[in-house]
Amino acid sequence: MFDVKAIREDFPILASQVNGKPLIYLDSGATAQKPRQVIECIERMYRHHNANIHRGVHHLSAIATDMYEQARERVRAFINASSREEVIFTAGATASLNTVAYAWGETFLSAGDNIIISEMEHHSNIVPWQLVAQRKGVEIRVLPFDDAGRLCVEQLSALLDERSRMVAVTQASNTLGTRPDLPEIVRIAHANGTLVTVDGCQGIVHGGVDVSELDCDFYAFSAHKLYGPTGVGVLYGKRDILEQMPPFLCGGDMVDRVSFQKTTYAPLPLKFEAGTANFVDAVALGEAIGYVEKLDLQAVEEHEKALTRYAEEQLLQIEGLRIYGTTADKCSIVSFNVEGVHHYDLGMILDKLGIAIRTGQHCAEPVMQHYDTTGMCRASFAMYNTTEEVDALVAGVKRAVRMLK
Ligand code: ALA
Repeated sequence: MFDVKAIREDFPILASQVNGKPLIYLDSGATAQKPRQVIECIERMYRHHNANIHRGVHHLSAIATDMYEQARERVRAFINASSREEVIFTAGATASLNTVAYAWGETFLSAGDNIIISEMEHHSNIVPWQLVAQRKGVEIRVLPFDDAGRLCVEQLSALLDERSRMVAVTQASNTLGTRPDLPEIVRIAHANGTLVTVDGCQGIVHGGVDVSELDCDFYAFSAHKLYGPTGVGVLYGKRDILEQMPPFLCGGDMVDRVSFQKTTYAPLPLKFEAGTANFVDAVALGEAIGYVEKLDLQAVEEHEKALTRYAEEQLLQIEGLRIYGTTADKCSIVSFNVEGVHHYDLGMILDKLGIAIRTGQHCAEPVMQHYDTTGMCRASFAMYNTTEEVDALVAGVKRAVRMLK
């Protein structure tokens, strides 16, 4: 049995009040709350195990290094990468995607090539590609979505040609909730000799990933949406491609030999982990994965799906309310607007009621342009949300609309 009450007890912040009201946190798509196991892990690291990794012969350094490498193994198993060398700790998904766009792009792109980006991408999977495209004289092509928020995968073949080097696509849209047909995208792209980079920020939380089965070439995610800490994330890359890429950031830990004449680099994965790694938060990410793995993930998925369906049914009762993204297998994200009401005003009133949603462009301006809107309200549900909270959201939206119209 899925016990949402027991889960909520693991998340201390959910017992807090905002504006004198119990917090109703519906912004987990932006960042998820943290279970006490993760919070305690961070404290334990600083209290008992803090020493720089990969650098000291002393006891504490060896322990911290072991814990960091165990966290890497936990991530490897969680995403089913075939080796630890393919799992790189970064500062987050944005850093991961910038690493691919820069280091892979510098090596493998040349003038006249093209990159395909889906129209529903977060800015982090658009802007790094634009920068490398500008530097290299590369064309950006856009794979569109339809008004239901379905990515038009059937149009991918027509966008590909012999100069197509990369397809950049999300596993689940942070705005529309859409889960594009990734296996089909990978199949079509690979048949054309084109690589695929997947932004897994939302997808890893809602269903996880098996990178070996999916066969994508790169996969990026952040810890903080997966109930882990901020400031750490992962870049998965296929080993043979990572081997051919130059480093992105340079400094300590990523080198083999350094002289003023020549520097050689450390083997994978350290080649891409310059400077003191965020080992404390990497270990806490391992803890977050451990927390998630103890749950019945199928039950979590069903719970979130039921909340999403219920929220959509109830919200659609409100006159003038439109939901963006209506694909059947979407993840637990509900973006909406009410005719004649500004998304920002609605968000402000909900906040007064203790209800946290996201408002604005959700770092996905092309999605806003698609629907010709300046922004949207977004409720995003996690395992700890309840139907009572959905009721409060719907009542809050009704109240706000009465006040604003
Ligand atoms: N990418 C995060 C979101 O969707 C911040 O809100």
